[in-house]
Amino acid sequence: MINRKTNSEIELMKKSSDILVNALIRLKEAVKPGITTLELDKIAEQYIRKNGAIPSFLGYKSPYRGAIDYPGSICASVNNEVVHGIPGLRALKDGDIISIDIGVYINGFHSDAARTFPVGNISQQAQDLIDATKQSFYEGIKNAVVGKRICDISTSIQEYIEGKGYSIVRDYVGHGIGRDMHEDPQIPNYKFRGANPRLEQGMALAIEPMVNAGSYNVKLLENKWTVVTLDNSLSAHYENTIIVTDDEPVILTGTPE
Ligand code: MF3
Ligand code: CO
Repeated sequence: MINRKTNSEIELMKKSSDILVNALIRLKEAVKPGITTLELDKIAEQYIRKNGAIPSFLGYKSPYRGAIDYPGSICASVNNEVVHGIPGLRALKDGDIISIDIGVYINGFHSDAARTFPVGNISQQAQDLIDATKQSFYEGIKNAVVGKRICDISTSIQEYIEGKGYSIVRDYVGHGIGRDMHEDPQIPNYKFRGANPRLEQGMALAIEPMVNAGSYNVKLLENKWTVVTLDNSLSAHYENTIIVTDDEPVILTGTPE
């Protein structure tokens, strides 16, 4: 069941999103050769808590038996890591790319966003992948309007990415968001069959293309969280929480890249 947010609920989601964006500003600033992903995690956690909010991801339950609850406040996925990289003692190196995914919970509502940042000087290929991943989100939300359907968003993301010679990850998808971090509907970034709801005013959606430079196949590491590309190619991620309105969609978690 897809719930639609009232105007006052959207105002609460804006508060959550504002804290998220301000955390992203600090993270973007901190991403440099030498910093560890755990240090980035602490920057995010401290900023979120200082603002009276809670990191949405911390303690999130894994669907896998025996896996630990998510131990970070951000996901920090470097180079061939697609999503859910666990913050740790890995220091970033010049030329790396890092996808940072962050969720904030306050006043009963979550917001969720991701960016892929360059570390120092990166290759043109890496920059092109980052740019295309971001642009695919914007191609997708051109269809995030009343009367279109979820699959219109999905298809436009996929067509843009495949037109650039990249591939769209199939195993992870975007989602509705609100009082729960993951609500209906699922939002694949590729054309799919099956339930394909029509978009309505007040829907809150986290749209999050995950794009591989090589094939779309991924594998899960033994920590049961970190997802990497099967062919070791680079991967980028870009995500925003948006609201479908009677006019253009509103991006609640807009900018810092
Ligand atoms: N943006 C991701 C998602 O929508 C982040 C989840 S990380 C987790 O699923 F740890 F919370 F699972
Ligand atoms: Co998400």
